[in-house]
Amino acid sequence: MSDLIWHSHWVDGAARPVPRMADPPAASQLHAFLSSRRSIRRYLEAPLSGDLVAALIEVAQRAPSAHHRQPWRWVVLADPVRRQRLAAAMGEAWAVDLRADGVDDEEIARLLRRSAQRLTAPPCAVLPCLTMENMDRYPDPTRQLREWQMAVQSVALATQTLMLAAHAVGLGSCWICAPIFCPDVVRATLDLPEAWEPQGLVTLGWPADNGRDRPRQPVAQTVIWR
Ligand SMILES: Cc1cc2nc3c(=O)[nH]c(=O)nc-3n(C[C@H](O)[C@H](O)[C@H](O)COP(=O)(O)O)c2cc1C
Repeated sequence: MSDLIWHSHWVDGAARPVPRMADPPAASQLHAFLSSRRSIRRYLEAPLSGDLVAALIEVAQRAPSAHHRQPWRWVVLADPVRRQRLAAAMGEAWAVDLRADGVDDEEIARLLRRSAQRLTAPPCAVLPCLTMENMDRYPDPTRQLREWQMAVQSVALATQTLMLAAHAVGLGSCWICAPIFCPDVVRATLDLPEAWEPQGLVTLGWPADNGRDRPRQPVAQTVIWR
């Protein structure tokens, strides 16, 4: 695929802005690298240094953001006890929802066990948050919602960049959605600033397996050309 892309840059000899990395072999390596990331849910016990996590976040923050306002904030969950407390608190909130959905107690217990295990077993986790503090403010709810959406998009891009930065050094990661369903519980358990909106949680660690290669929809099914 990357051959095609690079060919199209040069095929008509037209003067075009030269991409920074005008290097077909590097591009195809990068494409292969991007395609090789997998969600990792089993980790070795080996610890992860705080310096490495900080370096990954520094790379993550190179992501684009709406108006360059950088609405991302990060909570590094290095302390396993804190993480256990968080898993328990989020589990309680989830159990309430599951009971309301009519899920039986045995199934609830199984889901909660699996979820807590996924959260507590990795050596580290990062909880991306968003803040609207520096974003634009609108008097009408419609534009305010769009502004918030742009903040969500910006934090998601930075989080994906974090996961790829981790992958580049051989670390595994997995995005866990639980915190987005119980932001108040997360904020209270971790004593976070009121303005920080939890967006999810990324587990981090040295992989104990290669994850699963999950097939993607063919481009022909996901794209319309106009
Ligand atoms: C917004 C978002 C939420 C996700 N939530 C969870 C989750 O709660 N638990 C989990 O195990 N994986 C979660 N994932 C990971 C997806 O299941 C995974 O990306 C998908 O199955 C494709 O697999 P891959 O990442 O290995 O390519 C989430 C991914 C995204 C982007």
